Amino acid sequence: MEKIEEIKKNFLSEIKKAKSLKELDLIFNEYLGKGGKISVFFKKLKDLPIEKRKILGKKLNFLKEFFEKEIEKKKKIFFQKKEKEIFDITLPPKKIERGHLHPLTQTKRKVEEIFTSFGFEVVEGPEIEDEWHNFDALNMPPWHPARDVLSLGKTFYLKEKGYLLRSHTSAVQIRYLETHNPPFKIIVPGRVFRAESTDASHEIDFWQLEGLMVQKETSLANFKAVIEEFFKRFFEKQIKVRLRPSYFPFVEPGVEVDISCPICQMKGCSVCKQSGFIEVAGAGMVHPFVFKAVKLNPREWQGFAFGFGLTRLAMIKYKISDIRYFNSGDLRFLKQF
Ligand code: FA5
Repeated sequence: MEKIEEIKKNFLSEIKKAKSLKELDLIFNEYLGKGGKISVFFKKLKDLPIEKRKILGKKLNFLKEFFEKEIEKKKKIFFQKKEKEIFDITLPPKKIERGHLHPLTQTKRKVEEIFTSFGFEVVEGPEIEDEWHNFDALNMPPWHPARDVLSLGKTFYLKEKGYLLRSHTSAVQIRYLETHNPPFKIIVPGRVFRAESTDASHEIDFWQLEGLMVQKETSLANFKAVIEEFFKRFFEKQIKVRLRPSYFPFVEPGVEVDISCPICQMKGCSVCKQSGFIEVAGAGMVHPFVFKAVKLNPREWQGFAFGFGLTRLAMIKYKISDIRYFNSGDLRFLKQF
């Protein structure tokens, strides 16, 4: 009797320790297999007197059933565990942090979407430029004051002579005119670089959007119509466009483009400095000098060109008070878009 109790105790402790299905098989063989500990007892039954045989037989059968059930129970636990390890569809998914597009990229894509719907093509150019494309072909020879004094003169020159970080996207006008025959209409979104002292509205590394449309006949009236429609779609409200005479060496006549303040609807606010208008671009009719520089006949072709501050458009659209946030990499800023 004692021995049977001992067998039960050992069995239970082995079952408890078992770590795999293989170990459970071994335990089954040890106790219930052909030569197993319980089977040996069964074999001994026949030598016992009938009464004792009955009692012990009952006990052994009971124990055999108990062992089998315990082994099954443990097997189930292993199976369940295994299933969970493979795939548990009831578990909540791990949260994956998703990034999103930078506000400038969002602005760039919106602008591209609008202009391509007008039939404009999106074109790119190099950020490292040469002096011919950035200045000379745009009617700014080395002695021209715009090259040094005006904002276009705040140039980052490279060690390699004649090369610089482009200070405006107008350089791509020349690259495109040199390699394509008009008529065409293009926009050029791109990063530009200027050696500025930065403040809330000036960066050294910002985005511009150049536009160029060349046809047999076009005018500033065409230009105004195009950008008025553009601004209406971009700000999703009616916008007034005001053109003021201005000077850029590569256009004649040249204009400064102001838009009615989309924030206060011309009532006066801090963004438009109470004036009701915001200056957003330079523009004008392509100068005959430029056509000649790219070997096109200025008597045959007419074109309008414009250069927006794309970063400034994003600032107005999203009501961003300081341009320096864009390049700051500050997630508290970026997560708001
Ligand atoms: C130009 O760069 C001319 N290439 C624009 C042009 C193109 C005129 C085609 C005529 C025909 P400007 O230096 O004014 O012009 O710059 C254009 C726009 O870029 C400005 O209206 C302003 O919105 C933006 N901008 C200029 N400097 C900075 C700066 N440091 N930081 C952020 N935006 C700037």
